[in-house]
Amino acid sequence: MEVVIRPNADAAADLVARVIAKEMRSNPRLVMGLATGNTMESVYARLVQMHGEEGLDFSACRTFNLDEYVGLSNKHANSYRHYMNRHLFLQVNIDLKNTHLPEGMATDLVAECANYERLIAECGGIDLQLLGIGQNGHLGFNEPLSALRSRTRVKILSPVTRAQNAPLFPNPELVPHRAITMGVGSILDCRRCILLAIGEEKAAIVAKAVEGPITSMISATALQLHPECTLILDETAGSQLKESYYYRWVFENQPEWEPFRAASSAVGKNGFHAKHQPEQKPAEAMSDVLE
Ligand code: GLP
Repeated sequence: MEVVIRPNADAAADLVARVIAKEMRSNPRLVMGLATGNTMESVYARLVQMHGEEGLDFSACRTFNLDEYVGLSNKHANSYRHYMNRHLFLQVNIDLKNTHLPEGMATDLVAECANYERLIAECGGIDLQLLGIGQNGHLGFNEPLSALRSRTRVKILSPVTRAQNAPLFPNPELVPHRAITMGVGSILDCRRCILLAIGEEKAAIVAKAVEGPITSMISATALQLHPECTLILDETAGSQLKESYYYRWVFENQPEWEPFRAASSAVGKNGFHAKHQPEQKPAEAMSDVLE
């Protein structure tokens, strides 16, 4: 595991987007694992900007999202399909047929989970998995006690997770109780993992995930088992790490990070985030695409 601490949220998201773009340019058929949540919005905004300004090409890449709520149709404003269409897919030249999320309305959820694993395997596995982290340390919706070898399945959402995601719903009662999520084992199978965490409210759980013992109570600790995993943090999310001096030294001195150092530090407090938010498409236009 590697930890990179950037001076602010924009610089951290910019670095994540640059790592993704580099992988996409070296493999146009990249299979990407994608995540949702507030944290990812600035990464997707940056990728959209790179598509517009630098011609970053999504036409051949394939994507698999980590999770989807059970019981929400893909047209529902709180579904993760809707989130992905809005923040990324409809803003770039990706073929929607190459974008995958679990089907939260499937009548046979067990079959849907098995099918999702099969689809990932048919694409040759996930090359690059993007991850956020929940306040209880979940990856995707791998809630406390998720087996470290778990595969895609239905999980019951914990009260902490439902409360964390409630502000996005019109009423907290409407937050679904269940979701389909890739398992911890499915995530560990991907070739490279990049986790982005932003903000002081993530500092304590990030410290546990990086420097604490591996436990199924905190699925992010399983990343310590992954051979190629990078956590990218802003200063506040990294503020409770004991070994941050060492992590900073590695980023400043490792040759692999050289191309990223200058570009990343050029992103200031008022970086791309505010200036380049993708234009929101009208809801009707999006439902057409979702038909
Ligand atoms: C949800 C998603 C997770 C994501 C988390 C963090 O629970 N299922 O994949 O990591 O939100 O969200 P945020 O970035 O809003 O803190």
